[in-house]
Amino acid sequence: MSQAMSLNRHPSGISHTTAMVRKATPADVSEIVAIHEKAFSNFFATRLGPAFLRKYYRLVLSYNAGIMLVSEGRDAGVSGFVCGFMDPVTFYRLMWHGKLGFALPVISALLRRPSLIHRVVSAIQRIQTPLEWPARTCELSSIAVEPEASHNGLGNALIRAFLACARSMNARRVYLTTDADGNEDVNEFYRGVGFQHTRRFLQRESRWMNEYVINDLEADRFCGTKVSSGHAEGECGDSSTEFSTRHARRWVC
Ligand SMILES: CC(C)(COP(=O)(O)OP(=O)(O)OC[C@H]1O[C@@H](n2cnc3c(N)ncnc32)[C@H](O)[C@@H]1OP(=O)(O)O)[C@@H](O)C(=O)NCCC(=O)NCCS
Repeated sequence: MSQAMSLNRHPSGISHTTAMVRKATPADVSEIVAIHEKAFSNFFATRLGPAFLRKYYRLVLSYNAGIMLVSEGRDAGVSGFVCGFMDPVTFYRLMWHGKLGFALPVISALLRRPSLIHRVVSAIQRIQTPLEWPARTCELSSIAVEPEASHNGLGNALIRAFLACARSMNARRVYLTTDADGNEDVNEFYRGVGFQHTRRFLQRESRWMNEYVINDLEADRFCGTKVSSGHAEGECGDSSTEFSTRHARRWVC
């Protein structure tokens, strides 16, 4: 390893000079869940517990139109992930059909925290009546990096890889929602990547959300270079790409 790389090594042991974005595998799920718990410590899904999160991320991995990518340093573990899926209505239907698998973690969370019941009911309503989007729409459902690895370009690298993968799966648009208030950093992060703010809405009492969309995903500017045409449609992330996190511009999907 070059001296320059050693000098840039973060005390956490995660190399921020280079990292790899690759398709996640089932073996990554526990690290993904650990990052999720740290990055979203007070969020509803986290309060449902690690067993719920494991089920959720395994479901995305098993969904044939799911996109789960992880970043990892040369000699460190997973440092970040991004997760989403094409055809969100089908994904949420799948989640609903698999409700028995989620029941145990949800019931045990409710036994620990009965006050979560209202949130569970409203989440069930959202799963049962997801937003209708035109065909070829992809939802980016979560993205997070190790807190100690943030501000090094990993999030940017992950999201651009996600967009390239969505495009390789024939997506025309990608949407996401994030908290509108007290969350300016993250809103700025999405705007910086090229997402357009489309609406502000009330998800539940006093929780305002922003919706962001990239509508013209076919435009090359969102992927830096064209996704390798040597890979069949849908083979997103079968290859991994090493990149310098500050200059990440090429992806292989
Ligand atoms: C959002 C998140 C994924 C960004 O990852 P990251 O690796 O820190 O982001 P990057 O280093 O690639 O930053 C990219 C750009 O986003 C913007 N940005 C990111 N964090 C920012 C902050 N705290 N303040 C201001 N701008 C910020 C900047 O424009 C930055 O570019 P710059 O570093 O050249 O100034 C990460 O902060 C995170 O995991 N947050 C907690 C989980 C979360 O809220 N996820 C999103 C909701 S689903």
